[in-house]
Amino acid sequence: MVKKQDAIYAAPLNEIIDFHFDEQVADVFPDMIQRSVPGYGTMISTIGILAAKYAQANSHCYDLGCSLGAVSLAMRQRITQPDCDIIAVDNSEAMIERGQQLLASDTDATVPVKMVCANIQDVPIEKASVIVLNSALQFCIYIFII
Ligand SMILES: C[S@@+](CC[C@H](N)C(=O)[O-])C[C@H]1O[C@@H](n2cnc3c(N)ncnc32)[C@H](O)[C@@H]1O
Repeated sequence: MVKKQDAIYAAPLNEIIDFHFDEQVADVFPDMIQRSVPGYGTMISTIGILAAKYAQANSHCYDLGCSLGAVSLAMRQRITQPDCDIIAVDNSEAMIERGQQLLASDTDATVPVKMVCANIQDVPIEKASVIVLNSALQFCIYIFII
C-alpha cells in the first residue's frame, strides 16, 4: 500500500472547521494515525496475537471504528479457528470504501471480513468472541453514559 503523507494541518487555516473522518482524512489516514498514536504499529500486531488466542470457532470478531481495517487485517492474518469471521464497522463512508479496497488486495488470509458502514450503536453484537475498539471508544463514549 502506498502511504500518502498527511499534510492536512501543515498550513495555517483561515477558518477552524470540525474534524471529520472524510475522504481527505481517509486518503492519508495510515500516515496520520502512525504519527499521532504512539506505538500504533505495535498495538495492531498485538491485537492480531490476542485475537488468535481468544477467537473461538463459530463466532464473530468485531472491529468497531475500523477506519481502513488495520485491526481486521491483523486479526484475519492470525486467526486459525474454523467458522470464525470478522465484522468491521465504521460510520465513515470514505473509510469503508477505501478499507474494502485494501481488504480486496489482502489475498493471503482466508478469514472472511464484512465491512459495514454504520453507527456502532446500531450494530447488534452477536456470538462475539473478540470485540476491538482500537482508538475508537473515545469517539462514541456517549454510548455508555446515556
Ligand atoms: C482513530 S479511528 C480508529 C482507528 C482504527 N480502529 C485502527 O486501529 O486503525 C476512529 C474511527 O472511528 C470511527 N467512528 C467514530 N464514531 C463512530 C461511530 N459512532 N460509529 C462507527 N464508527 C465511528 C471514525 O469514522 C474513525 O474511522
